[in-house]
Amino acid sequence: MENAKSLVAKEAAKLIEDGMVVGLGSGSTAGLFIMELGKRIQEEELTVFGVPTSFEARMLALQYGVPLVSLDEYDVDIAVDGADEVEKDTLYLIKGGGGCHTQEKIVDYSAKEFVVIVDESKLVNKLGEKYPIPVEVVPFAYSVVIKELINMGGNPTIRLGERKRGPIITDNGNMIIDVSMDIDNAEKLEKELNSIPGVVENGIFTKVDKVLVGTAKGVKTLK
Ligand code: 5RP
Repeated sequence: MENAKSLVAKEAAKLIEDGMVVGLGSGSTAGLFIMELGKRIQEEELTVFGVPTSFEARMLALQYGVPLVSLDEYDVDIAVDGADEVEKDTLYLIKGGGGCHTQEKIVDYSAKEFVVIVDESKLVNKLGEKYPIPVEVVPFAYSVVIKELINMGGNPTIRLGERKRGPIITDNGNMIIDVSMDIDNAEKLEKELNSIPGVVENGIFTKVDKVLVGTAKGVKTLK
């Protein structure tokens, strides 16, 4: 899979043109993309700026020489990001395995073009088949959000940190509740989850332009 991830990251880096502002996704695949973009910027002396979707993406951009700007100053031309699940027919996604989906959605949805990069293992027939929906929650609200998610037919669990002594804390100082539930209408559920008081953002993404999939035979594009 590492090879498929590198392949797809390299292919996505080729989409970047001189003068572009690029949304920099989070996770291991997006990390490889940031590295490939940094290489192109140095070797071809490109003027390209990045907008990071997480602290992790910010650090990688600094490491690989991708100059950073903020959404205050620039619009994003293209965002390149990974995903935890991609529904084959609709290109709907689940994101937030790294707990970064709030900033990812802000940057990815604001971009003129949103490109997703994954290896084949991320493709599913039905969204939610393998992965729960990550929901970022203001800590004060976690118990009422959990009750509401159960009322909606979900099975929520608080995401714990590595040593399992407490909840993981996002870049925004919030908690993540992972909820397994049937996703019959992803667009509707994306909105419904965000209407629960205390929910900051959920990991269903329904506005995707294209998906590059790394396979053993090369990269295929889903649109
Ligand atoms: C982080 C994300 C990542 O894009 C997603 O978890 C995929 O990561 P990886 O490329 O490491 O499999 O949504 O919040």
